[in-house]
Formats: sequence, structure tokens, C-alpha cells
Amino acid sequence: MTEPQIPPIGIAPSILSADFARLAEEVSDAVAGGADLLHLDVMDGHFVPNISFGPPVIASLRKATDAFLETHLMISEPARYAEAFARAGSQRIYFHVEVAPDPRPLAEKLRRLGVEPGLTVNPETPIERVVPYLRDVDKILVMSVHPGFGGQAFMPDVLGKVRALRTVHGFSGDVEIDGGITPETIGAAAAAGANLFVAGTAVFGEPSRAAAIARLRDAAERKAG
Ligand code: DX5
Ligand code: ZN
Repeated sequence: MTEPQIPPIGIAPSILSADFARLAEEVSDAVAGGADLLHLDVMDGHFVPNISFGPPVIASLRKATDAFLETHLMISEPARYAEAFARAGSQRIYFHVEVAPDPRPLAEKLRRLGVEPGLTVNPETPIERVVPYLRDVDKILVMSVHPGFGGQAFMPDVLGKVRALRTVHGFSGDVEIDGGITPETIGAAAAAGANLFVAGTAVFGEPSRAAAIARLRDAAERKAG
């Protein structure tokens, strides 16, 4: 199969590593520094062993920035809460295939609410789990750490799934990668076929967000590493 067209590269800072007491400032710093969109990690203390924030924080952020907001639901019952996250202003919502045996009804509901649906796979989940739904969602988020915490080490083995999406399955939608993305790891993810890159620590852990984003983008474009 000929390799599909890969959509443009984008850097998505995750606010999980930002200073929550100064969130509006942190976000405007990242956006002014070249962020293409913002990644919002929602955790329920059940699907993952950590708790982050919910719709009220996203609704406040919506008023504070014009940036594209994508929400990554790491929660056990995405169908129960998806509408609240859509109404709060999320423009894209990723939910995990591990808790959505048939993701189609929720994907359709999100589209009706004007939100782009996306499916996420944990490191140990085979890519075959999402393949039947590649026409229902045109965005796949591949976890490159076990979800729940920022600052973990990148798991290079998951790149086989990214490669398979592009080459075996001819997927031409967005393939986003999440966890442990740094200037050292992003090139390999780009070479495998990912085009959107979540980065928490590698952006908000750096003194200059603009320099951090520029380094990430440059390494992704060069597919360095
Ligand atoms: C992990 C989250 C990630 C996290 C990434 O559960 O889904 O989005 O914020 O953080 P870094 O970039 O520090 O690995
Ligand atoms: Zn995430």
C-alpha cells in the first residue's frame, strides 16, 4: 500500500505540567510561544490513579483563550460526562477504547454536539482495537506512557502502532502521541507517522515555552532521533 498523506505537524502543550494557580497566564504564554492547540488531561481517580480537573476549569479556560482545546478523558465513564466537556468548550474529545467497547455511539453524539471525536489507546492495547472505527473517528491518540502522570519516560515500543496505522491501515487522519515527548523522542515519533505531539513537561517545565516549542517542532520536522 502507498503511504497515506500525513496531516501537518502540531505541538499540543499539556496543561497538566503548568502552574494551575496561574493557568490563564501559562496558557497564553504557550500560545504566544507557538502552541498549535492545548491538551487538557482529565483524570477521575478510577480509570487512572490520579485526579486532575473537570468541566469548570475547561469552561474558564475557554473564556481565557481562543486556542483550540482538546480534552483527553482518562475516565471510566466517558459517555456519561462527554456532553459536559463539550458544553464547557472542548473542540475535540478523546476517549479511551479500553472503556468504550463500541465507540460509535459516543463518536456520533460528540459530532452532533459539534465536537471532533478521537479514540485513545493505552500502551498495552493493540491497535487492532481501534482499526474497525477509523472511519468513525478521524483522530487517534496513541499513549506512549501509562496514563495518569506527566513526566514519565517515553515507551518507544508503541511506535509500531503508529507505523501500522499509516502503512498497514493507510490511515490519513491525525495520529497524536502522548507521553514522554521531548526533543530527543519526538523525531522517532514523527518518523513513525505521528503528526500531533502532546508535551507537558517538555513545554511547561522549561523556562522559555517559545524556545521549548520551537525545539520540539524543529526535531519533529527533521524527524531527528
Ligand atoms: C498522561 C497524560 C499526558 C501528560 C504528558 O497521563 O495523558 O498528556 O500530560 O506529560 P509529559 O509530556 O510530561 O509526559
Ligand atoms: Zn493526555
